Amino acid sequence: MKIKKADFVCSSARVEQCPTSDKLEFAFIGRSNVGKSSLINMLTNHNSLAKVSGTPGKTQLINHFDINSEWFLVDLPGYGYARVSHSKKKKFTLIIESYVTLRENLHILFVLVDSRHKPQNIDVDFMNFLGENDIPFVIVFTKSDKLSNTQLNNNLEVYKEQMLQNWEEMPKYFITSSEKSIGKTELLGFIKETINEHKKDKVK
Ligand code: GTP
Ligand code: MG
Repeated sequence: MKIKKADFVCSSARVEQCPTSDKLEFAFIGRSNVGKSSLINMLTNHNSLAKVSGTPGKTQLINHFDINSEWFLVDLPGYGYARVSHSKKKKFTLIIESYVTLRENLHILFVLVDSRHKPQNIDVDFMNFLGENDIPFVIVFTKSDKLSNTQLNNNLEVYKEQMLQNWEEMPKYFITSSEKSIGKTELLGFIKETINEHKKDKVK
């Protein structure tokens, strides 16, 4: 899929304020600083559609982008940063939980995890929460350019082992690097395929 048009729609503080639409929505989430905004910019061929920053916690709202007038891409606030107050953390958790459980046109959630680190409880717990609530997700390993192939494969094995403690099989995943444009074709192809399948199901 080629992204011909990516337009910012709006930022919402709560799920109730998100734009009314029947367009399929694909949302990106993960720990703060995992590379969500960079990935969104890579996918949409923009340098600055989503704000990239070295300061964790930059994305604090639910940001909607209209892609090709066909689907919505959503940049969600990061979870689990150390440097914000407890009350702020709680507020973000509420925003995220209500968005993922209540947003009806949310089709698939991309859960980003840093490929350099071993599985973090916060990510594993969040994916378990998604499973318990029947929210479809795929895992996106980010910043793969920072690792050698051997290191990357080792980390993937460790991740799979951890996931298999709670899951019958490893959830679908993608390896990406925004720095080197790795995984772009695969991710966009997957989104396109999913949209097509949904259209077919609607006709049936
Ligand atoms: P918040 O909005 O603060 O939650 O962060 P975020 O998840 O949107 O992360 P962001 O895209 O702002 O990136 C955080 C830092 O990681 C920035 O310094 C990016 O330049 C860097 N970064 C992101 N993706 C990659 C990547 O694929 N490779 C490398 N080497 N660095 C990356
Ligand atoms: Mg961000």
